[in-house]
Amino acid sequence: MIGSSFAWSNDNAIIDSSTRFHPVMSDSGMVVSQEIFASQVGAEILALGGNAVDAAVATGFALAVTLPRAGNLGGGGFMLIHLAEENKTLSIDYREMAPTEASRDMFLDTEGDVDNAKARFSIQSSGVPGTVAGLLHALDNYGTLSLKQVLQPAIDLARNGFPVSTDLAASLQARQPTLHKNPASKSYFYKADGSGYKYGESLVQSDLAATLERIAKSGKRGFYKGRTAQLIIAEMRRSGGLINHRDLADYRVVERAPICGDYRGNRVCTMPPPSSGGVHMLQMLNILEGWDLQALDHNSAAYIHRLVESMRRAYADRSYYLGDPDFFPVPVAELTDKKYADFLRGQIDLQSASRSKDISPGLASAAAHNQSQVDKLRSIPQESTETTHFSAWDRWGNVVSNTYTLNFSYGNGISVAGAGFLLNNEMDDFSAKPGSPNGYGLIGGAANAIEPKKRPLSSMTPTIVFNRDGAPVLATGSPGGSTIITVVMQMILNIVDFDMNVAEATAAPRIHHQWLPDRVFYESGVSADTLGLLRGMGHQLSDKTRRLGATESIQSDGSTPFLYGTADHRRDGSGVAVPAAD
Ligand code: DON
Repeated sequence: MIGSSFAWSNDNAIIDSSTRFHPVMSDSGMVVSQEIFASQVGAEILALGGNAVDAAVATGFALAVTLPRAGNLGGGGFMLIHLAEENKTLSIDYREMAPTEASRDMFLDTEGDVDNAKARFSIQSSGVPGTVAGLLHALDNYGTLSLKQVLQPAIDLARNGFPVSTDLAASLQARQPTLHKNPASKSYFYKADGSGYKYGESLVQSDLAATLERIAKSGKRGFYKGRTAQLIIAEMRRSGGLINHRDLADYRVVERAPICGDYRGNRVCTMPPPSSGGVHMLQMLNILEGWDLQALDHNSAAYIHRLVESMRRAYADRSYYLGDPDFFPVPVAELTDKKYADFLRGQIDLQSASRSKDISPGLASAAAHNQSQVDKLRSIPQESTETTHFSAWDRWGNVVSNTYTLNFSYGNGISVAGAGFLLNNEMDDFSAKPGSPNGYGLIGGAANAIEPKKRPLSSMTPTIVFNRDGAPVLATGSPGGSTIITVVMQMILNIVDFDMNVAEATAAPRIHHQWLPDRVFYESGVSADTLGLLRGMGHQLSDKTRRLGATESIQSDGSTPFLYGTADHRRDGSGVAVPAAD
């Protein structure tokens, strides 16, 4: 039961007459996601007595129905869980894995150039999906309700249909050219005559409901074996894909210790490799900690300059050192070392912009380390949109921060005929060729080269922040490809350095830089005067504004049962849901 107690975050911000943006408040748990029906599903699970993990798993499956551009069964992601009673924080890596038949040069054409169409829109762009294994692993190990209970709401939404939102209608229209090329996608997401659904019309997904029912009945086997697996393999055979039965049966989630760092007395716990998000967010926070940011004022030129220069250096390192840690020795400790940050901060000219072409990955770190560390870093061989986040928090203080994706909006546009779900194009997150940018302009090398069974490097940054007493005070994360890391970091800066509440922190205009291209991206709301000052310092600004990320966050003061949630207004249809009062 949700009744009148769930609130649309956007309305909530508007109906309050004070000048501060206000979050939605609850003392009985909360779920925040990019799609309100899925948030409601999570809140219903909390109302049934489920914990944050039960709610998150139910929301994850519901988003696969109601937000098909990013919610998924055919993709992968990362979940961070904080367990209150054990006072333990862990991460679940359910990133896609490259099929056994994948190979380093599989996306190169006869000239040796990257064939972007193949890397992004062919069936070979799909990695072995991890979502079902990941969500079930979380439920089996840390949930309290049955698989049937948490899956039933998603099954009902798929089987009975749900009213199409403006966001879903618009995104399906935007992706029509791609989705119409695949007969299964065309039949699943458009009417019989091929036309699009309008706002309020019902979208029924019977094949997807049947797949969800197989999972509810048989768990992991309901997806990775039996009928669903047969349908996936039939799709591979039909379209020239590489995933085989063995790849599906062998898919494994990995529980990894999260990486945690201190920022001004707060403990920031976030996702380790194969996401680059945690390493580089902590690296940037370490650099920024050396300045009194509050004294500079939020989004002043002096503040943005420091952010940009920190981002430039972190993303240069990303291109060189980051990849799947099961295949490559990612120097996490070195990159997140406070002394290394001191060294990098010392390299930053506070008056003028550096040029990305003058910042070399790895080399910048050399002087900061002793010779053996330098040798270690140098011995590493140098070669050269659509995701979604949700947060859940229960009344016992358990917290889940989850980001998952198909990579692009609607993945590669190819649905598994008969199974009702879209496939990811995550193989494009590998570096198909050293120095060639992927779909987000990111460069990589050997660390992130394609290898069988390897997980492509990600930027997804699900994060939980703890106060000095060790109590969780923030769960957040975002979509946005390469911009995820800088967006999530700005949420933390807004709250820690500028004392914003979670609604204000979400609303504040964001900026982004990623080393290459050498460009400062910014949202509307950064003042023209500030942009002029940044230009004067030598920064190259993007010629137009851009929306950066979509955070779905929950905040706590760490000492009362009250939670404060904000769904990001940047994406239509997002929402906060809380369980109805008993
Ligand atoms: O894992 C990654 O970093 C990307 N596949 C995420 C893609 C994404 O965030 C697109 N969303 N807008």
